[in-house]
Amino acid sequence: MRIEPFGLERWFAEYEHEADIMLAESGIRSLDAGRFDLDPGELGYVIPTNGDPEFRTRVGERYGRSADEVLFTCGTQEANFLAFLSLVATDDPPGDDGVGSGDHAVVVTPTYQALHAVPEAFGEVTRVELEPPTWELDSDAVADAVREDTAVVVVNNPNNPTGRYHDEAAMRAAYDIAVDHDAYLLCDEVYRLLAEKPQPPVASFGAHGISTTSLTKAYGLAGLRFGWIAGPEAVVEQAWRWKDYTTISPSLFGQHVAKQALGRREDRILEENRELAREHRERVAEWVDRHDLDWYDPVGVNAFPTVPEGFEDGREFCRAVVEREGVVLAPGDLFGFPDRFRIGFGLPTDELEEGLERVSRVIDHPGAAAGGGDA
Ligand SMILES: Cc1ncc(COP(=O)(O)O)c(C=O)c1O
Repeated sequence: MRIEPFGLERWFAEYEHEADIMLAESGIRSLDAGRFDLDPGELGYVIPTNGDPEFRTRVGERYGRSADEVLFTCGTQEANFLAFLSLVATDDPPGDDGVGSGDHAVVVTPTYQALHAVPEAFGEVTRVELEPPTWELDSDAVADAVREDTAVVVVNNPNNPTGRYHDEAAMRAAYDIAVDHDAYLLCDEVYRLLAEKPQPPVASFGAHGISTTSLTKAYGLAGLRFGWIAGPEAVVEQAWRWKDYTTISPSLFGQHVAKQALGRREDRILEENRELAREHRERVAEWVDRHDLDWYDPVGVNAFPTVPEGFEDGREFCRAVVEREGVVLAPGDLFGFPDRFRIGFGLPTDELEEGLERVSRVIDHPGAAAGGGDA
């Protein structure tokens, strides 16, 4: 087994620590811990280790599923990891119905690297590559990629890095293809609740639907490390068996604060965050327009514009931006598109304004040396 280094994390590790402004963070700015009660009582494991049953019932209701069809995890990252372990790395399919057998995954890309690198490490991946400028999900391409040994079709919706939000019809078409091939459709929905009109989650589509998500991006609670898998009981059960070997239980603090964030404060938090996303999207749209870049007007707080003139590719541009102006962007080659860069605009407004201004200086003076941003 071989796992690719996580390119985006390595890029951040190189620059994030020294830079002034993180314009590549993919989520909304973090909420202050002071908004929540932080005393969960005794600091034991969460028991049962798949999560508080009453809270799993509440989360399951969002999908029309029961408590046993939900497993709490350390973020979406662990939710996806456990799902792939269950579906692609385990010889036996999760249920006794034969659904999800095989070690092949179809992954719609570009996307967050974990969604193809992990199944690639355990099995085989066929990518369905979305194309600019619309990044539309082509169900014929998904149908062509699916095989007899396909265990799962993987989509991230809304998508990182493009901000494309495939509509319900496109997602249902992908779901039907998965059903026809005795496979599951797994959707990473970590950005879903940043949409003005969120669509139904894939786990609510039927027996073959699996949703993964967390409180990281839409709620601004990355530090909780709290997420979940919702889907068929057999998949969730198998994921729990793997979780015994990863993190045992979710974080007790995470669960304690998540109960509050998904309780009566939820509407307020999501409203605040959507408003921030909306205002910032408008601000970035003007900026993209001013610099004559191409982009897809995104849902969420990630966008994937083209590299400005005067730079060979996204990496050269992003290096110039961070070295001259201390602003971190993400080069598009990390997602397979060297002629683009990813910008994350969920950060506090003053930082966004300052960051855009600094990047503008680099765009306006492509040839200037490091440290000479005003030249
Ligand atoms: C699509 C996607 N999935 C999962 C993650 C990881 O999120 P979490 O903090 O919930 O583990 C990210 C983070 O950027 C992401 O973009």
